[in-house]
This record gives sequence, structure tokens and C-alpha cells, in this order.
Amino acid sequence: MGKLSKIGVLTSGGDAPGMNPCIRAVVRTAIYHKLGVVGVKQGYQGLIDNDMYEMTTRSVSNILDFGGTILKTARCADFRTDEGMEIAYRNLKAKGIDALVVIGGDGTFTGALRFSKKYPDIAVIGVPGTIDNDLGGTDYTLGFDTATNTVVEALDKIRDTADAHDRLFFIEVMGRDSGCIALRAGISAGAEAIMLPEKETAITELVESLKAGEHNKKSSSIVIVAEGDKHGGAYDVAQIVKEQIKIYDVKVTILGHLQRGGSPSAFDRILGSRLGFAAVNALIAGETQKMVGLRGNSVALTSLEEALKVHEFKLEDDLMQMMEILSI
Ligand code: F6P
Repeated sequence: MGKLSKIGVLTSGGDAPGMNPCIRAVVRTAIYHKLGVVGVKQGYQGLIDNDMYEMTTRSVSNILDFGGTILKTARCADFRTDEGMEIAYRNLKAKGIDALVVIGGDGTFTGALRFSKKYPDIAVIGVPGTIDNDLGGTDYTLGFDTATNTVVEALDKIRDTADAHDRLFFIEVMGRDSGCIALRAGISAGAEAIMLPEKETAITELVESLKAGEHNKKSSSIVIVAEGDKHGGAYDVAQIVKEQIKIYDVKVTILGHLQRGGSPSAFDRILGSRLGFAAVNALIAGETQKMVGLRGNSVALTSLEEALKVHEFKLEDDLMQMMEILSI
């Protein structure tokens, strides 16, 4: 690869709070190093549609506190095809872009890896941006902290009303393949049980523990159901449990996409800034096909392949056990 001169930056897949601080860091670090920087709209779709614009330090003024992504995002089916990738490549070359920073989750990295294997003269660095926290090589992904805090705030409110009415609530949280939000929010809000995509919960055990809670004079119970749970969504689980437990009045709340929005937490602003800064520095150092992540409070590079080998089971069995003991 020749000398780096212009970087494209895009956000792709589900948006995550912290993406904007990361874009800001990419733009300003690139400009500091006298590199051109181009914002690509709507993820890989913008590469194909040639929807890109030159960015300046002022393009990213006052966006640290914005949720969503100023570049917009999409899940782009066309980029999965050879034809789509070729159009994207030609558009990048015509603009003189020789490197990309892609901010997103597993789908984004899968696309980035395929593209950069096909066109190795475009260097690619990934930044983990997904509320699901389900990538390898990083302790945290952008948006996970903010989303967890959003869920905790909602759970605290639900606890008030659950307690006032002596009710059992099933709360559905996001995480198609990942129970990270469910577990962390469950510990933070003292949930009685959590149900995760990674680990099947036996309904009989759940019912027994809810009955034991009632026996222990608990006035309310909260069960968090991650959306990818094997038994189905919160409504399905509530229905099954309702037939076996008569002690509580049962209610269901689906938190849905509100978990993806909102102003990023200080943690996500710092993480976005650090990873955006590191992504540009990695490109300057000649790196490609890598992800910048946070491991033990240090920025670390991981191959995109490794990053995609998710689910080293970030849920940690010890945390699961602790939650169960603390919620008796
Ligand atoms: O990957 C992030 C995520 O929010 C998942 O937790 C969820 O399953 C999915 O995106 C929802 O995707 P969409 O916004 O396309 O419905």
C-alpha cells in the first residue's frame, strides 16, 4: 500500500450511543495528521451510492452528546455481492480514499473483512460499535454502557410500580444473540432472574425460584428476558410461567429501540474518543484488517477474524451466580 492520504469513515448496522464521539475523534485525528477525511453516509450503502462528503474539524462540532450517528447507518444487502463491492471500490478510488474506518458490529466487520481481502489496497480498521457487547478482542463495545444504563433506569421505574402492586414483571431487553445487557442490567437493578440466548433457563427452575421469592416475602419480582431467549420473547415466557404460578399478577414490558437511543454516557464518549483516535493511528502505522478495542483499560488491536469469533461467553458464569445469590 502507498502512503496514506485520505480516510473514509462510516457507521454501519445498528446505531449505538458513542458512535458520534468516535466519528469526531477519527475526523480530528486525521486532520491533525494532515490527512483528508471523508464521511460516508448510511454505512456501506453510501459507498455504493457514492454518498460521501469531505469533512472538516467543524463537521463534528458539538456532537459528543448526540445519540444515533450523524453519518446515518444501514444494513446493506448490496455490499454482500461482488458487484456491490466492485462499485464501492471504484467510488473509493475515484475519491482518492485509501483507507476506511468502519464503526459497527459483527455484520459490519464481516463486510469489511471480505471487502479488504478482495481489495487489499484499501486498508480497513474496525471500531466495535454495538449495544450488544458481543465482539471478541474488546471488553466493551461502544453503546453497551449507555444502553445498560437506559435499561437500569427503566427497571428502577418498573420496580416502583411492581412493588406497589405486588406484581411479577417480565421485561424484554435487546440482544438477539447476546445476554450482556440483560446480565449487567439485572445485577444493577436486582432482577430476580434473567433469561439469555446463550444459556437455556429451565422454566421449572424459574418457577421454583419465583415461588421461593414469594415464600421469602418478596413483594415483587422482575425477570429480564433477552430477546434471543430460546423460549421466545417476554410475552411467550410470561404465558408459560403464568400457567404454573398463581401467586403474582403478571405483566410484560418490551423496552425495544429506546435502548439504542439517548446521549452517550461519559464512558461511551471516552471509549469512542479513544478508539477513533487509535483507529487513525493504526492506519498511519500501516495496519489493516484489524479492530481497535479496549482490553483491561488499554487500547489493543485484534484481527477482524478474532473479533468475529464472538461469544468467548462474555457473560461470565461467576456474575450469573452472584446475581442469583444476591437476589434471594
Ligand atoms: O445489534 C444491535 C441490535 O440492537 C440487537 O440487540 C437487536 O436484536 C437488533 O439490533 C435490532 O435490529 P433492528 O434495529 O434492525 O431492528
